[in-house]
Amino acid sequence: MKTLNLAHRGFSGQYPENTMIAFEKAYETGADGIELDAQLTKDGEVVLFHDETLERLTNGKGHLTDHTLNELKAYSINCQIQAGLPEQKIPTLREYFDWVQDKNFVTNIELKTATSENIGLEEKVLDLIEDYHLEDQIIISSFHRGNMVRVKRLNPNIQTGLLVAGCNERIIQTTKELGMDYIHPHALCLDEELVEVANSYNLKINTWTVNEKADLEKAEKAGINAIITDFPNRLRKIQEKQSASV
Ligand code: G3P
Ligand code: CA
Repeated sequence: MKTLNLAHRGFSGQYPENTMIAFEKAYETGADGIELDAQLTKDGEVVLFHDETLERLTNGKGHLTDHTLNELKAYSINCQIQAGLPEQKIPTLREYFDWVQDKNFVTNIELKTATSENIGLEEKVLDLIEDYHLEDQIIISSFHRGNMVRVKRLNPNIQTGLLVAGCNERIIQTTKELGMDYIHPHALCLDEELVEVANSYNLKINTWTVNEKADLEKAEKAGINAIITDFPNRLRKIQEKQSASV
């Protein structure tokens, strides 16, 4: 089975992360899908943004969760990564779904919360997925076990993956016991033994974040479900070369 090429925060190696242009460019470059980060605004809207605070990525200041959607939409995303790009705003999940709904494109939604306290993000994300009938194209992930348990309880049919920075058999077993479909280990943990153990628990692997050519080639050969990369163009090239040689 082909390993999926998932663009991390969109095509973030060349475009501003978690923006509509980064998602569109990932699609155009031939990625199979994207990974994005979801958070709740002060007034309960789901927006796509990685950091807790606005300074690194926008011309705004302070915590994202202290701002309403209208306030956030007044800010511009920093686009220094590439000259000449059109102005980008923080997208909502709804705007993203409007764009993706007619595409055969996988979306890995990471629930980006500070803790596993229930702030209602899971429910809002799941409601939107159901409104757009995108259940079959979505994988929800989080580093917080509590978030993932809530997702499975609210909708057992949604595919889920637990994000882990380190990995061993005990963590794989716990991930399976939590009812997850996938484990999302950091790429540094990825080796043959991990793949074997995950397979023995019938748990598929989506690894992050693999960017260098040699690492992408190695991960591509590991027989896993997906590689999450800032450079979907590099992985695409490797996969094309490999399928041409078969
Ligand atoms: O989902 C994989 C990866 O995105 C997790 O880390 O910090 O890039 O959101 P981060
Ligand atoms: Ca993420």
